[in-house]
Amino acid sequence: MDCRGLVRSLRGFTSLRGVRATRSALRRRWIDARGLPARGPERARVPGAVTGAEPLPGGGIVRFARSELRIRVVVGGAVFWGWDGAGPEPSYALADGVPAPDPRAELEPDKDGGWRVVSERVTVEVSRHGAVEVRTPGGVTLRRDLPPRWWEPVNGGPARWAQRTEVPADARFFGLGGRASGPRLRDGVYRLWNTDPGGSFGPDGDPLSITMPVQLVVADAGTHLVFHDNSWDGRVTLREGEEGAGSGHDRKGSCEVRMDGGPLRCWVIVGKPARVLSRWSRLTGAPAVPPSWALGAQHARWGFGSEAEVRRIVAGYQERGLPLSAVHLDIDHLAGHRVFTVDRERFPALPELADELRRAGVRLVSIIDPAVKAEQGYAVYESGRAAGAFVRDGRGREVRGEVWPGQCAYPDFTDPRVRQWWGGLYEERLRQGFAGVWHDMNEPVSFAPFGDTTLPRSVRHDLDGRGGDHREAHNVYALAMARAGYEGLRRLRPDERPFLFSRSGWAGMQRYGGTWSGDVSSSWDGLRASLSLVLGMGLCGVPYSGPDVGGFGGSPSPELYLRWFQLAAYLPLFRTHAAIGAGRREPWEFGPAVLEHARAALAERERLHPYFVTLAHLSRLTGAPYVRPLWWGSPDDRALRECGDAFVLGDALLVAPVLERGVDRRLVRLPRGRWFDTATGQGYDGPGQVLLDAPLSRVPVLARAGSVIPVRGADGLLELEVWAPAGGRRGGGLVVADAGDGWEQPEVERYTTRLVDGWVRVKRLRSEGSGPPLRRVRVRGLGAA
Ligand code: GLC
Repeated sequence: MDCRGLVRSLRGFTSLRGVRATRSALRRRWIDARGLPARGPERARVPGAVTGAEPLPGGGIVRFARSELRIRVVVGGAVFWGWDGAGPEPSYALADGVPAPDPRAELEPDKDGGWRVVSERVTVEVSRHGAVEVRTPGGVTLRRDLPPRWWEPVNGGPARWAQRTEVPADARFFGLGGRASGPRLRDGVYRLWNTDPGGSFGPDGDPLSITMPVQLVVADAGTHLVFHDNSWDGRVTLREGEEGAGSGHDRKGSCEVRMDGGPLRCWVIVGKPARVLSRWSRLTGAPAVPPSWALGAQHARWGFGSEAEVRRIVAGYQERGLPLSAVHLDIDHLAGHRVFTVDRERFPALPELADELRRAGVRLVSIIDPAVKAEQGYAVYESGRAAGAFVRDGRGREVRGEVWPGQCAYPDFTDPRVRQWWGGLYEERLRQGFAGVWHDMNEPVSFAPFGDTTLPRSVRHDLDGRGGDHREAHNVYALAMARAGYEGLRRLRPDERPFLFSRSGWAGMQRYGGTWSGDVSSSWDGLRASLSLVLGMGLCGVPYSGPDVGGFGGSPSPELYLRWFQLAAYLPLFRTHAAIGAGRREPWEFGPAVLEHARAALAERERLHPYFVTLAHLSRLTGAPYVRPLWWGSPDDRALRECGDAFVLGDALLVAPVLERGVDRRLVRLPRGRWFDTATGQGYDGPGQVLLDAPLSRVPVLARAGSVIPVRGADGLLELEVWAPAGGRRGGGLVVADAGDGWEQPEVERYTTRLVDGWVRVKRLRSEGSGPPLRRVRVRGLGAA
């Protein structure tokens, strides 16, 4: 923390809340001092020499002098392996248990005394001393895990472990959850411990609210995802390799994972990025499809303060003809910040307000924090206490922390009974008229002027019947909370898709909803960090996210606000938000020019709404994020791997936001193929770089030649915008029409495009039954022809 940060935090902690937070931090120490005995001396261990093997369906067990390795290739091609007998379950990440073993994958001896499992898509080689190498069917090495090492406390307790991996010299790392400095993760140490950075953060804010032991490694040899299924505190040290410019002296890249406990087990998925994400979402669950209104423009603020202010903001949008789909109410609408309550003085008639807004097409979304004020007579607390819902220390006493409402108790979401109880509480939110929920402070946070801002590590958790403590439960706390909320909403409103997004989470959270970028700083650095977070989360399987437009804590300049707005118009969650006391975020507060440019961005977002709906459904069906790095379709293009300042939105659009002050032209790197500047119609051929105009009125957006983009026509009906394919080439696209906010699964319409004699021919592949109606087509990119 810099000096200013320290002064700020000390100032914050001289208040009453500060005194209580200090007390709570001291209590945390005290509880852990009793609950977690010092580790004492440790014994190091490695697997030792191979002693034998036993084939099993999909692979088998390879035995070593001091450990054993279980390998299983499952149907679909993902590979699991676990040391010391670790199996794939239990797991908080897996959606529906473990897929069946691939019957064709077999364990066989290799000539050096090791063993290997050969399957259709990968070969896993296990050396005599326990190095594990993953190769493509062509024999090219994608990763080589050296024999792991454990440190076991002599007096018992969890073993720490470390696993070092070598990757090709050209490999680049992505993922690890939401990282502000990415999307490409440079050399450094990345901690795996969900953390509220405690104030606005920029690119060096690390770790943040969502850490995940999920990496995507992209190299010429191929792309793979590796997931260390372990929720304990850990550190990942990445070092990119270096190529010796043909000298033969390449330095390989490396990755070392160190965990404080828990199983050493991982999944590896190999293939093109689209295939990898598709397998990953099959393993950890299809992304929830947000209701279609949640793909529109949303406005939040901490500190609306009253119903009148909410009405004023909504009227501001309406009077200016600006679309708005939702308003989010923060903790200031609660009575004394207590979850599942309403401050009746400031919000005397919330259900009526919700109704009135709903009729104007605006939904209300509510913040929900997990911590429950520990106060006698407060119904939520009393019912939680009666249900035995709150976490306890090793001596059975309820553990308290300090959050917005004061002293709080924390539900143990890893207990199925608690999830059931908590999910039922959402009934109150529905009664107030809320249409969606926004989970916050669920790392979980307990304010503290020093040490960890979370629960004591020795706090007990149910862990779905297995029992354990916060060291294991911490990183999955928000994931389990999301499950509780999502399942509760489904029980309460079975006919509607829940809208839920959460600040913290873990692998698999996409099953329940999305996320947002947390308290990103109101600066150009914060703007860049926002894009990094969205891209990184998408690669970890969580496609729905977006930043606080304008940043959380400060007052952005008109230019910064506008550039942020223009970026977010192309991100799944398009929401302005700000802290209490921060500057305004309404588009009309930055002068008439910004208002007109923001209006254009909003209009374009509205026009692209059918495309966002399509991407949301395709995400569910294929696991592909809406927002993808430029290398998505060409992972072998090294220049694209370095490029983090632009993205592709679905297959069709390339968006090059402006991320720097004073810029009105920018270089845009193009993947291969032909791309049209959507503003000018000018075509460019990739791969390569082009310099494009980026006046304040817009950011460069290019369309892929041959693509089919569903858009909202002037009359509100869905129409197809088709970009001319390059001569001799075919194009096409998928369209999923909006089928409302229920569970109906609309048909996927498939189109192909072709240029024939100067005409663009658009064909819909035959569908079952009568199929969807014929769509109006608008062709672009033919120039004057
Ligand atoms: C946290 C959230 C922020 C919210 C605030 C008050 O800082 O990240 O979005 O406004 O809490 O609830």
